[in-house]
Order: sequence, then structure tokens, then C-alpha cells
Amino acid sequence: MSLQKACAAADIPASGALRVLLEGVPVAVVRDSEGGLHAIGDTCTHADVSLAEGEVDDCSIECWLHGSRFDLRTGRPTSLPAIRPVPVYSLTLDGDDVLVDVTTTINAGDTAAKES
Ligand code: FES
Repeated sequence: MSLQKACAAADIPASGALRVLLEGVPVAVVRDSEGGLHAIGDTCTHADVSLAEGEVDDCSIECWLHGSRFDLRTGRPTSLPAIRPVPVYSLTLDGDDVLVDVTTTINAGDTAAKES
């Protein structure tokens, strides 16, 4: 596990997301509607746009381009046109620091979906 600081928790908007780059990996750090924090891959699996620019509703984020929604806990799309999940990364709070590990995913991520 290789946790590194992604941002300060205070930087993440309510029911919103912040795009960060960690080791060259684009990550969306998202605050859900209940205030929970999540770290997911910030590239929509449909057409390579930033998910952090989308709207957060409950525990999902909607891609701004074509409207696919991704579950923030599993990374899985819950609506078309995206069919492959985004990676979900481990996130830990250390005071106000948001720490994320991009070296391992805690879901199947994109790879497993391609294999199925
Ligand atoms: S680019 Fe995200 S749903 Fe099409």
C-alpha cells in the first residue's frame, strides 16, 4: 500500500469532486451526498473525459458528456452508454489530509470487465 496526499478534505466541494494527478494517474476525489469520500479513476470508460466535472447524486457520479452514472463504491456504471467500471482506490483521512493509494484498486476496475 502506498498512500499519498491527494488534497485537503476542505478542498472537495459538497456533493462534488476534485480532479488530482497521483503518480500520473488521474483521480477524482468525490464527496457523496452523505459527506462520504471516495477516490475513483477520473477517466470515463466510455470516451475519455473527466468524471470530476460531472454531477454527484447520492453515491454516484454522472459523466457530463453522455450521462453514464458510476457507483462511487464499486466503480461500476449503472447506466449506459458506459459498460466498463472505473477503478476505485483506497482512501484514508489523516486529519484534513486525504490520502489515496493508486497502486492497487479495491474493485475489479477496468481490467476485469474487459476479461468478462
Ligand atoms: S464520455 Fe462518459 S458516458 Fe460518454
